[in-house]
Amino acid sequence: MSASKPRTRDSSALVAAARQARLHAHADYSNFKVGAALETADGTIVTGCNIENSTYGLTICAERVAMFKALSEGHLKFRRIAVAFDTNAPSPPCGACRQILWEFAGNIEVILSTLRKERSHHQLKDLLPLPFDKSHL
Ligand code: THU
Repeated sequence: MSASKPRTRDSSALVAAARQARLHAHADYSNFKVGAALETADGTIVTGCNIENSTYGLTICAERVAMFKALSEGHLKFRRIAVAFDTNAPSPPCGACRQILWEFAGNIEVILSTLRKERSHHQLKDLLPLPFDKSHL
C-alpha cells in the first residue's frame, strides 16, 4: 500500500468544547465572549473563557485561561487549541496569547471558529513569526 498523507484530525469535538466554554465568559465590558479548548498530548481537553474586570487591564483572554488551567493541572505537552468567537469570520488570537501559547506549547495547531461552521486552521509559527523565546536568553 502506498503511503498516504496524514489527515488533519477531526476538530469537531474540540471546537464544540470551545463554543461551550464561551458560554461561561465574563465579558460585561466588551460583550465579546470567547471560548478556548486546549488539547493535551494525551487527548485531555482543558477549556477557558475570557474573564474581564472593572479595571479593564486585569482582563484575561480565553486562550490564556485554558493554558494556565492546563499547566496548573500538570499538563506539559499540547497538540492544538480551538478558539470560538461570535463573529462573522473567525477572529485571530491577541499577541499576548500567541506568546504564551508559544512559550508552553510551541508550534501547535490553532483552530479558529465562529459559532456557525466557519473555521480556519493555522500553525502557531505562522501567527507568531520570529518569536522571542528561551532560545534567545
Ligand atoms: N479576547 C480573548 O479572550 N481572546 C482573544 O483571542 C482576543 C480577545 C477577549 C479579551 C476581552 O475580554 C475581549 O475578548 C475583547 O477584547
